[in-house]
Amino acid sequence: MFDSLSPQPPDKIIQLIQLFRDDPREQKIDLGVGVYRDASGTTPIMKAVKQAEKILLEQEITKTYTALAGAPEYHEAMIGLVLGDSVPIDRIAAAHTTGGSGAVRMAFEIARLSNPTSTVWIPKPSWPSHQSILNFIGMRSDGYSYFDFESKVTDFDQMMGDLQKAVRGDSIVLHGCCHNPTGADLNFQQWQELVEFIISKGLNPIIDLAYQGFGDGLEEDVRATRMVATKCPETLIAASCSKNFGIYRERTGILIASTQDTATQTKMQGILAHLNRQSISFPPDHGARIVSTILTDSELTQIWRDELTHIRHNLIAIRSSLSSELQKVTGSDRFGFLQSHKGMFSLLGCDSEHVLRMRDEHGVYLVGDGRINVAGLSQESIPYMAQAMVASGM
Ligand code: LMR
Repeated sequence: MFDSLSPQPPDKIIQLIQLFRDDPREQKIDLGVGVYRDASGTTPIMKAVKQAEKILLEQEITKTYTALAGAPEYHEAMIGLVLGDSVPIDRIAAAHTTGGSGAVRMAFEIARLSNPTSTVWIPKPSWPSHQSILNFIGMRSDGYSYFDFESKVTDFDQMMGDLQKAVRGDSIVLHGCCHNPTGADLNFQQWQELVEFIISKGLNPIIDLAYQGFGDGLEEDVRATRMVATKCPETLIAASCSKNFGIYRERTGILIASTQDTATQTKMQGILAHLNRQSISFPPDHGARIVSTILTDSELTQIWRDELTHIRHNLIAIRSSLSSELQKVTGSDRFGFLQSHKGMFSLLGCDSEHVLRMRDEHGVYLVGDGRINVAGLSQESIPYMAQAMVASGM
């Protein structure tokens, strides 16, 4: 059996984790995988998470199964965080998934089950797993322009032009905030225009929301998502708690389906539970329990919000310092875009030769497409980074 299988190439983002660990140089910087790091380069466990775990350790009395779609209190807490009261609760179905990736996979499976010959439109560029999961499940996909590689901002006109080719029943993947990998987000007016277009064309929006709280704020980052869910008859939202709760390895995500009526909500709730049963049966509980413990306790919620605000401010400060340092060493404003990008990532717009030179000559690890995770930098490492970029010909 194994003989007939083809080997698979390693994942380009995840591969960097090991390459970086194996690099014996002392002076090295990991700007690869999207994980937050503090000034000391570590990914700390948030205080609110530690406290929630303490509560769980003391109060949890059973580890028996929850429900196929996960714990209802987790659904409620996450629906509140993502959608607020923008959509009536009796129109929302949800399933706890294994991380945001699990939610994305489930959303794509729903698109395939519903309409196997439809196309899923993904931004160019996008998080590589979008394309790879679609290929893996045999779903048709196409790309729409999203980013102007010259100016490093979104290319809305080109995007809308490309999307004219989409047909009724197709799905469109949108990044709710902090676009991965570019860091460039649509403005609210563009989102509004896009939603009108989605409705008139009869497309199905699938929103990937992995960085709520990393851009402009917890509420601000879901403004567009809430508008889509309020206006479109049906919306799928794949949300992740990996980053904003810092519980990466707990695999805590959720797929939220906003539906047109309660009958559809009931049907969708059953379908989501069924989909979990076909792959993982019951989702892993611990991360979800941490999240619901935090979000149902006002004191813990405040501690968590403050920690998240600190993270966001740190990202903004790093962006600003890197941009100023680059202005100093290059004498130009061509890296000014770093300050308008949101969240962890920016696409530098360099080619693979630059990326390799950064790695080989300077020990700076970027994803192959030139994406940097700004959280991998600190105020101390910024001058080194700027020098390395210039020395590598960027
Ligand atoms: C990333 O883009 O680096 C993160 O979303 C981690 C991942 O799984 O790729």
